[in-house]
Amino acid sequence: MNAPLAGQVALVTGATQGIGRAIALALAGAGAQVWLNHLQQADAAARLVAEIEAAGGHATAVPADVADPAQVSAMFAQILAAGPLDILVNNAGIILEKDFVDTDEDDWAQVLGVDLGGVYRCCRLALRHMQARGSGRIVNIASELGQLGRERYAAYCTAKAGVIGLTKALAREFAPAIRINGVAPGPVDTPMVSVENMSEAMLARESAIPAGRLGRPEEIAAAVLFLLSPQASFFHGQMLGANGGAWMGG
Ligand SMILES: NC(=O)c1ccc[n+]([C@@H]2O[C@H](COP(=O)([O-])OP(=O)(O)OC[C@H]3O[C@@H](n4cnc5c(N)ncnc54)[C@H](O)[C@@H]3O)[C@@H](O)[C@H]2O)c1
Repeated sequence: MNAPLAGQVALVTGATQGIGRAIALALAGAGAQVWLNHLQQADAAARLVAEIEAAGGHATAVPADVADPAQVSAMFAQILAAGPLDILVNNAGIILEKDFVDTDEDDWAQVLGVDLGGVYRCCRLALRHMQARGSGRIVNIASELGQLGRERYAAYCTAKAGVIGLTKALAREFAPAIRINGVAPGPVDTPMVSVENMSEAMLARESAIPAGRLGRPEEIAAAVLFLLSPQASFFHGQMLGANGGAWMGG
């Protein structure tokens, strides 16, 4: 059995659907024991725990709103009381499409609070623990929109660009003991950006990239798994562009 993460404990935020679900399945398939963070999705989390355990893996659901510092603290207290944490994947996120002039203070605070604030506070608690242990790995899920920009998505683009900056800063601060990288996906077919709910025009626009199609969650999970693997031992502060060629910048 190929189990590069055997004996390792991982936390995946927003793990019950879409990209997070694929990441959780990939990490469990690679032998990790996975904490599945969810936001009020206890049933979906229980189904995923059952699916992972039926395949011979190990997983535990843990609720928390990553925008809420008290809930994040409680989640880490629960996880660390059970044992060490080797891996953190910050995946939880929300998107907002709105004209910039209509994007009010609440919209801005909500998107930044989840998409950037959630990464900040999970990284902070994980890194305190990982620093004391002298090892650990983190992968942050950003977005091509943090690199490209997109009209009517200012808050989301800003938050994701922030995730890219935070990933680089932390990678420098905590290297070499702790490797911190990211994946910046292009359009991926998930409940957030779903082929089923998209107009033909929107689908055509989203697919107008060199790959000619939307990505699959498993294709993002593969990039995450690589960054967590020993094969990525020389990767620090990188943003892997699993994006179908939408962005080819450095
Ligand atoms: N789908 C895409 O095209 C795409 C492209 C680039 C980046 N991304 C990023 O990938 C990540 C996963 O997106 P997805 O497409 O799977 O979306 P999704 O909406 O299917 O899943 C997001 C998950 O995050 C959870 N979540 C949201 N707010 C939360 C909170 N406050 N606390 C805890 N969990 C919370 C949701 O419950 C959900 O399970 C996000 O960070 C997203 O920005 C997605």
